[in-house]
Amino acid sequence: MGRKPLIAGNWKMNTDAVSAPNLAREVLQKTSRLRNVDIAVFPPFPLIPSVLKVLDGSAIGVGAQDISAELQGAFTGEVSAGMMTSLGCSYTLVGHSERREYHLESDELVNRKTIRALEAGLIPIVCVGEKLSERDGGETFARVERQIKVGLAGLSKEQMARVVIAYEPVWAIGTGRTATPQQAEEVHEFIRKLLATLFDQQIADATRILYGGSVKASNARELMSQPDVDGALVGGASLSSDDFAAIAESAG
Ligand code: PGA
Repeated sequence: MGRKPLIAGNWKMNTDAVSAPNLAREVLQKTSRLRNVDIAVFPPFPLIPSVLKVLDGSAIGVGAQDISAELQGAFTGEVSAGMMTSLGCSYTLVGHSERREYHLESDELVNRKTIRALEAGLIPIVCVGEKLSERDGGETFARVERQIKVGLAGLSKEQMARVVIAYEPVWAIGTGRTATPQQAEEVHEFIRKLLATLFDQQIADATRILYGGSVKASNARELMSQPDVDGALVGGASLSSDDFAAIAESAG
């Protein structure tokens, strides 16, 4: 289908003022010869400027781990999409399962954040995925369908053309328990078919759907060899430049 893979490193609440630019520098050095893969890193908010400085002029994108659903104003502690664009960010994660779980983010809030990101010129990586109880209860497809339908509600086709989806089964995040390539592929295929009904076939074929959840250098190639897996959202392994570069290499 010609979808260029995207490898996204979600640093979560890790690194500091010294280690964040160092990690970015190492990632840059170790991935500079890769041409057929897009790479992006998602440092914690205060470390973003130092990472942008290191990656200035490079092909590696920088993104926020979250943004506010509000435009601006009296929202203490919040960070707007426009602030991220003004710094030089090109991406933001939206609806990561840790935001959904610990900050009670609803599908409706994820939708508002997705629209804010698009309006500010950011590429949203909209995260979806079922919990273990939902998988065990046979509710995986229904859960993901609602997350996608509500999360992307009201988007024009032009807007949707800039969205990236990440399928991250919650039971696989940070647990060392990865979905099998077959488990990932069946949900990715389901999402793509859903996008064709919600938007159109062309959009569905062009949308990148990343897999996330304990992606490592040792399992990345097999996961990304699936026809509908277009890259990875990497948490733990993105904190090692060697591991992250190896994952990017297996995509490109
Ligand atoms: P993990 O995290 O790779 O550590 O499982 C993935 C994520 O939360 O994006």
